[in-house]
Amino acid sequence: MKILVIGASGMIGRILLPELQKKHEVITAGRSSGDVRVDISSFASIENLFKEVKELDAVVCVAGTTFSGPIQNVTGEHLISGIQNKVLGQTGLVIVGQHYLNDGGSFTLTSGKLGEQPAPQNAVKALANGALNSFVVAAAMDLDRGIRINAVSPGQVSIIPPQEVLNAYLHSIEGTTSGEVIKLGY
Ligand SMILES: NC(=O)c1ccc[n+]([C@@H]2O[C@H](COP(=O)([O-])OP(=O)(O)OC[C@H]3O[C@@H](n4cnc5c(N)ncnc54)[C@H](OP(=O)(O)O)[C@@H]3O)[C@@H](O)[C@H]2O)c1
Repeated sequence: MKILVIGASGMIGRILLPELQKKHEVITAGRSSGDVRVDISSFASIENLFKEVKELDAVVCVAGTTFSGPIQNVTGEHLISGIQNKVLGQTGLVIVGQHYLNDGGSFTLTSGKLGEQPAPQNAVKALANGALNSFVVAAAMDLDRGIRINAVSPGQVSIIPPQEVLNAYLHSIEGTTSGEVIKLGY
């Protein structure tokens, strides 16, 4: 498979990359890292990405930052930036990328446990993760040409065995499931 990984240089990306590269052709992307540059907070940048990288079988997004901190400290800027980077960024990859993906291709997004099991000081993360999970379940009903979509929803990755993290992503990328929120570390 030809797989595009956005955020490959990050904590989760570094777990996935060596294994994916053993079996697949992998193209990495980030704002300042990877084979190609993209800022997923910009739709124009996402459009340019898919014009540059063609014939993809899978798109995996392990990027998108959001604010952590008590709600009293959340500013409009934090809210907008979290939505722009994580929600619009990851869903934008699907909105644009669906027109470029090969038949039978797949999207694997990354939400997070805080969407379903919120914790104090993480309202913006809860908002972004919940939105992504809802999007994935609904988008799976509409995507055509056999294109699949799932979200991996991890707890704190530093305390999850790396193999579990890898398996969750492989379940989406190499499996047949669609519209699933794949939970780990709950
Ligand atoms: N780590 C965890 O415990 C955990 C748990 C649950 C959910 N998650 C979610 O999983 C995702 C990845 O987490 P992580 O900890 O692996 O992140 P990370 O270590 O901070 O790495 C983020 C990666 O994404 C890229 N990136 C960031 N913003 C981008 C943008 N706007 N456009 C393109 N690339 C961008 C970064 O590269 P550049 O700097 O080169 O752009 C980097 O490769 C995030 O959405 C996070 O919320 C993480």
